[in-house]
Amino acid sequence: MNKVQQATANLSNLPIKMIMQRLKVPTPPVLEGPDMVLRFPEVIAVTGVRRVLIVAGPTVSASGMIDPFIDALKQNGIDAVLYDKTMPNPTIQNVYDAVKVYNTRHCDAVVGFGGGSSLDCAKIVAAKATNDIPVEHMDGAFKLRFRATPFFAVPTTSGSGSECSIASVITNPETKTKNLIADTRLIPLAVCLDPKLAASMPPSVTAATGMDALTHAIEAYVGDMDTSFVRDKALTAGAEIFAHLENAYIDGDNLDERMAMMHAAFFAGEAFTRGFVGYVHAFAHAIGARYDLSHGKLNAMLLPHVLRFYLKSKKATAKLSEFAYNAGLGELTEDDRTLAEALITRIEDMNAAMDIPAVTDAINPDDVPELVDHALSEAWLYPVPVVMTQGDGMRLIAAISAC
Ligand SMILES: [Fe+2]
Repeated sequence: MNKVQQATANLSNLPIKMIMQRLKVPTPPVLEGPDMVLRFPEVIAVTGVRRVLIVAGPTVSASGMIDPFIDALKQNGIDAVLYDKTMPNPTIQNVYDAVKVYNTRHCDAVVGFGGGSSLDCAKIVAAKATNDIPVEHMDGAFKLRFRATPFFAVPTTSGSGSECSIASVITNPETKTKNLIADTRLIPLAVCLDPKLAASMPPSVTAATGMDALTHAIEAYVGDMDTSFVRDKALTAGAEIFAHLENAYIDGDNLDERMAMMHAAFFAGEAFTRGFVGYVHAFAHAIGARYDLSHGKLNAMLLPHVLRFYLKSKKATAKLSEFAYNAGLGELTEDDRTLAEALITRIEDMNAAMDIPAVTDAINPDDVPELVDHALSEAWLYPVPVVMTQGDGMRLIAAISAC
């Protein structure tokens, strides 16, 4: 990207920033605490729905953790139908299959129950139920013509922030690309944060999802669409994640640590849904869609390299230093560069402590130019503090590539 394109990109962010600063993005009401998943049907029942489609993935379904929720729904006069084939990177076909179940079983609401994949899939199922347009045509911002059918979220991981964000990411396996769908109509009517559900997460998933949440917080904070609300939520999320993620990774049954991470992921979700993400997500989406890799792990690998790239900007360096100081990673007497580098080092240390690899051997060198194209075109409207060239993108992928 040349200087003219960079200036154009920066200018094109201005109206979006003005819109995002004025746009009222609702924060969904939250029922939280151990076993609150058994009380959540009382909240759903208030809306008058009679038959919900639960959208989940096979692992969560096989674990049996949905069964008590279904029983509690029945006790509140609500039938439940289960769709449990959501893929880790949910596909367009997942959405169509679930919508078919929704329609044939005459459901009148959707519950996303699981990790970010299930919640993202459930959102688009709810949207498709009332918007007769192909998923591909929803790609982008504010493409939904009608309000989604009532949608509720029960996250079992702590990372995606999908439970409070306007965003959903759906993979198109044919093109090996991801559709990014953003609309305020995708925010759930209510959310249940039950730390007992998160306690079942294996350490590797705890690590990957937690680093995804950290990436949301940092990308929203360092980007140019930060508002006071975004900064506040991002800083709070960051401090919580540095204080609790490794504890949750080591001691998964500790409900206090799990609850803290659920809060952190929620706050980070609130931050990025208003402040957007940046290059870490753009490249993670491009690479993840091509090779079906974990979103959180890719974010964790890319994050230190992208933040080092941002050190070219004094403003970005200052912001990263604020983020580090707020998380207790240094002293006010230290200069911005030192604090920002302490943040990056801490991220690398956390990755290593949680067995997140620094590189992947999945990337085919022949694919790299196209991956960079996809990532840079996705990032075109992200409020990144420093704009990447094609060469920068190639170097970024090389930095996480074992080949
Ligand atoms: Fe993410």
